[in-house]
Amino acid sequence: MASKAILERTEVPVENDPDILAAAARLAGEDLCSISDLSSSEVRAILKLGHDVKQNPRDYRHALDAKQMVLMFEKASLRTRLSFETGINTMGGNAIFVDQTNSPLGEREAIADVARNVERWVDVIVLRTYAHDTIMEMGANSRVPVINALSDFEHPCQALADFMTLQEHFGNVRGLNFTYVGDGNNVCHSLMLTGAQLGANVTVATPRGYSPDIEIVTKAREIAEANGCEVRLLQDAHAAAENADAIYTDVCVSMGMEHESTKRAPIFRPFQVNEALMAKAAPRAVFMHCLPAHRNAEVTDAVLDSPQSIVFDQAENRMHAQKALLLLLLGGLPNSAKFQ
Ligand code: CP
Ligand code: NVA
Repeated sequence: MASKAILERTEVPVENDPDILAAAARLAGEDLCSISDLSSSEVRAILKLGHDVKQNPRDYRHALDAKQMVLMFEKASLRTRLSFETGINTMGGNAIFVDQTNSPLGEREAIADVARNVERWVDVIVLRTYAHDTIMEMGANSRVPVINALSDFEHPCQALADFMTLQEHFGNVRGLNFTYVGDGNNVCHSLMLTGAQLGANVTVATPRGYSPDIEIVTKAREIAEANGCEVRLLQDAHAAAENADAIYTDVCVSMGMEHESTKRAPIFRPFQVNEALMAKAAPRAVFMHCLPAHRNAEVTDAVLDSPQSIVFDQAENRMHAQKALLLLLLGGLPNSAKFQ
């Protein structure tokens, strides 16, 4: 889908953009385990570059020529796997997928030894894990960048694509009222940090006992204070929806938590995003979901399939935002037509 709004990003051409140039210098060779590995200006840089990659894909066609990416996934994936694979393939690189769903990382061989082998063959390691520590340990032991493609604690690539989508829709997210309703999970954590970094007001409504991790809340509030916005935690979905510009939800049972399905279903029922909840939001409000959605559980068909829903734009932008991230971590900008 073509961008609806042309943003502050167009004020300076990307090849001269100070945020992008500084991010390219600082991030080359780095890991992305958490959104908090990035500064606010680095988040802005990734998104600005993501918009340009989306609008001018040919300029980046050879930017990562011959670069090798391995994806090692302990959990199922549709969007993340395909958006990373198509992303690197369309910039001249290559992806190798390793299914770890039946062989969790660290079981057959120490994670540090996996890192010391894999770095000899590939330029970047993309991990989807249960334990966040698996990603941290791979990052600590690998000389090539490690990217978190979802752990139990964070889903940073999702949040980058989601805020890129909001920029597309609203032009700018500073001062935007962003509401997350549901489980205080990995997706929620990365959204809180990213929203705070971009100056959005973030409200999170969860059932009691399902709030986001306190370490993330503290970090997000510190970032928000520096950026002149706020992070609120509520336990009432309808109060959280009041005047929201975006309402976001995710499954109430994440991968690995399936044994809690029966217990969680009634607890999360008042947090379902339905037409009554959307009616509390601002008239221009959009509905967001990282997908996969459990239809008529955390969100009704009527909302998911409504004109307010931008869920497939989010899915599309996974690829563009991750292409920007790969360009920065792999030092690919000098090889793009635009930066030569
Ligand atoms: N949103 C997301 O990460 O989707 P997948 O689990 O299909 O990769
Ligand atoms: N919170 C969900 C997100 C899936 C993309 C999970 O971890 O299963």
